[in-house]
Amino acid sequence: MTKKRVLSGMQPSGLLHLGNLMGALENWRKLQDEYECFFFIADWHALTSQYADTSRMRAYIHEMVIDWLAAGIDPEKSVIFRQSQLPEHAVFHVLLSMITPLPWLERVPTYKEKIEQVQDKELHTYGFLGYPLLQAADILIYKAGFVPVGIDQLPHVELTREICRRFNALYGEVLSEPQPLMTQYPKLLGTDGRKMSKSYNNCLYLSDSPEELTKKVMAMMTDPARQRRSDPGNPDVCPLYSLDRIFAPKEWCDHVNVECRKAGLGCVDDKKEFLKHLLAYLKPIQERRKEFAADPKKVAELIAEGSRKARIIARKTLEEITGAMKL
Ligand code: TRP
Repeated sequence: MTKKRVLSGMQPSGLLHLGNLMGALENWRKLQDEYECFFFIADWHALTSQYADTSRMRAYIHEMVIDWLAAGIDPEKSVIFRQSQLPEHAVFHVLLSMITPLPWLERVPTYKEKIEQVQDKELHTYGFLGYPLLQAADILIYKAGFVPVGIDQLPHVELTREICRRFNALYGEVLSEPQPLMTQYPKLLGTDGRKMSKSYNNCLYLSDSPEELTKKVMAMMTDPARQRRSDPGNPDVCPLYSLDRIFAPKEWCDHVNVECRKAGLGCVDDKKEFLKHLLAYLKPIQERRKEFAADPKKVAELIAEGSRKARIIARKTLEEITGAMKL
């Protein structure tokens, strides 16, 4: 029995935080044994919105892949590659652009939102509109069965399925329709109580030292209504408690849930206990991270080797595609 193929990508945005770890990487890691996995650096996708300043692109790619490896993405099991090393994706993207009606792209919710919200960048570009089509090319060129993504990416997978059906209807059954594999994970809250996000500067990073993590957690926001140690608190609105629920054992969470409400325990007590569990959880990850960070050449070679492997498959599918199109 051949394993079904899984493919997912991530834009290189530099260091990864706990939200990325729990939302995506943990899921990828678990898929590695059951599926033939392809995980790639979506550097062209990053260009669609970051084209004006590419100075940190290489560093971002390097740091991100080190975080993947640290989190347990295993190059012995999974193919790790870099999109821009595979011109086949771009060729396929051009071919798909010929058969994709513009309204299909214009109605993608992420496109509409970003175009309205983002003010500081010119996003009325050809590349930005084509973002989900490039993603469709990424997925379809590997005939991936499953695409693990967060909920925000579901419209892109749905569009990929529509493009797939259109291609097959026009040129014959060459491509296979992928299924999304929903990552069921609530967004983690950051140290200021908002969603953990690089742009809010409220992240706990995989690469933060235990000292940095301690500093950040000790300064972390808790229930804002709880001003004094003697005030009763409400764990339901406490960002720290939301992290407890993920990293601390159930007994501790139950304890906090009772004691905090009657001021039987202070935020500092909870912070110390949380840190103990967080640091223990991150310890093996941080050790692996150090090893890979000390060997940048090895990381670059891993990416090059993965890209060679991926290219064999991408090339084969592209031949089938151009054959079916009589090119
Ligand atoms: N758009 C995805 C994101 O920002 C990244 C991505 C690009 C991707 N191509 C993909 C994810 C193909 C899954 C499959 O998260």
